[in-house]
Amino acid sequence: MKSSIIVGMQWGDEGKGKIVDVLSEKADAVIRYQGGANAGHTVVIGDKKIILHLIPTGILQNKTSIIGNGVVVDIEEIVDELNHIKGMGFDDTKLIISSRAHMLLPLHKAIDNAKETRRKHRIGTTKRGIGPAYIDRLGRKGLRMGDMLDRARFISQLEDYIDSFNANEARFYKIDRIRKDCFIDEIMKIRKRILKYIANTEKISYELIRKKSTILFEGAQGVLLDIDFGTYPFVTSSHPIAPYAFCGSGFPILRDYQTIGIMKAYTTRVGEGPFPTRMSSEEELKMREMGGEYGATTGRGRDCGWLDLFAMKYSSFINSIDKIVLTKMDVLSGMKIIKVCTGYKLRGRLVDEFPSNADDLARVKPVYKNMKGWTAEDMRHLKNGKVSPSIRSYVKLIEKQTNAAVAMISTGPSRRDIVYLEKI
Ligand code: IMP
Ligand code: MG
Repeated sequence: MKSSIIVGMQWGDEGKGKIVDVLSEKADAVIRYQGGANAGHTVVIGDKKIILHLIPTGILQNKTSIIGNGVVVDIEEIVDELNHIKGMGFDDTKLIISSRAHMLLPLHKAIDNAKETRRKHRIGTTKRGIGPAYIDRLGRKGLRMGDMLDRARFISQLEDYIDSFNANEARFYKIDRIRKDCFIDEIMKIRKRILKYIANTEKISYELIRKKSTILFEGAQGVLLDIDFGTYPFVTSSHPIAPYAFCGSGFPILRDYQTIGIMKAYTTRVGEGPFPTRMSSEEELKMREMGGEYGATTGRGRDCGWLDLFAMKYSSFINSIDKIVLTKMDVLSGMKIIKVCTGYKLRGRLVDEFPSNADDLARVKPVYKNMKGWTAEDMRHLKNGKVSPSIRSYVKLIEKQTNAAVAMISTGPSRRDIVYLEKI
């Protein structure tokens, strides 16, 4: 397998966790390049279900697992997650956190909460502090993981940071002021625990490249949540798109790599914002139950809709997708007719590009194609490599609209439930 960037093609929750887990068997290192603990990557191993928010999924295959500079690291969450994976018998010695990654502190979560409550048009954030942490980073006042290395200097930085928070955000958002001594004590405890994972990851990438290693870049969220290319302002504060994999990881642009897009056979969205192919509430209720569509991070019920190939054409172009992994195909089995959106109409006219404005996107009317469904029996045959005509038509339509090959189909939650249509 080539080095690969794995991205969610929709609004997140496409099943990236499982696919990265399966593919990391053939990789030397797995790297997260953006986002933070807003992600929830679910992996099922035997009868165990493991949800990772920050640590790259590669840790479960004992691969070098890097948290890149583009990630915001929730320092409380990372300790919990380390305890969780170690408690389940996984090794944590191959985890590396970039010294350039920004630190996400409890106060970022308090600000996220306060801002969201005051918004006229809510974004529906995960309240994990993501936006405020990225604001500090762009505002050039954030603390970085590498700042922990020099204890005395770090304490002085923390003191300045708390002074600024108490004088500004705490006052403005009416959040409890921070008591310096207790706060610094808590952070020092965490520091002790995570110091050993912090390193200059650029040096490690250099070594990995020198050894011609296979790298997996593990995207979080999805293209339609990208801060620039998503459905702004109903987006996250980072860049889930493939081109950011290099920026957010300290790797130079690789000469030989592929982009693998993860696409769920239908669409879900959690949080606010336009969703053109959303189903009727009755259909949605059924879909949510059948697909177990509840947030891995927040537990919220996800909104459900039909596959939107007009959005996927855009997503494929933005990411330059080479191969697609189609997930949750089994969830659709038993449906007589499956609707697929192939275009949008705005004010009665077909639009020729994916709207950049959320108001326009909220007004479009999807143009649907009715596809013949498949049965549970067809799914069983698929597991043995036999593709039924209705599944083939679905796959062909996806390939035609996205100009990318469907290489794998995921037919269930476990590692074994994978069918390869093509080598990856
Ligand atoms: P934030 O990233 O917590 O600021 O949330 C911004 C938007 O992105 C909200 O609509 C969230 O529901 C959505 N979001 C963030 N992370 C994920 C994810 O991992 N999966 C799906 N949606 C997400
Ligand atoms: Mg998720």
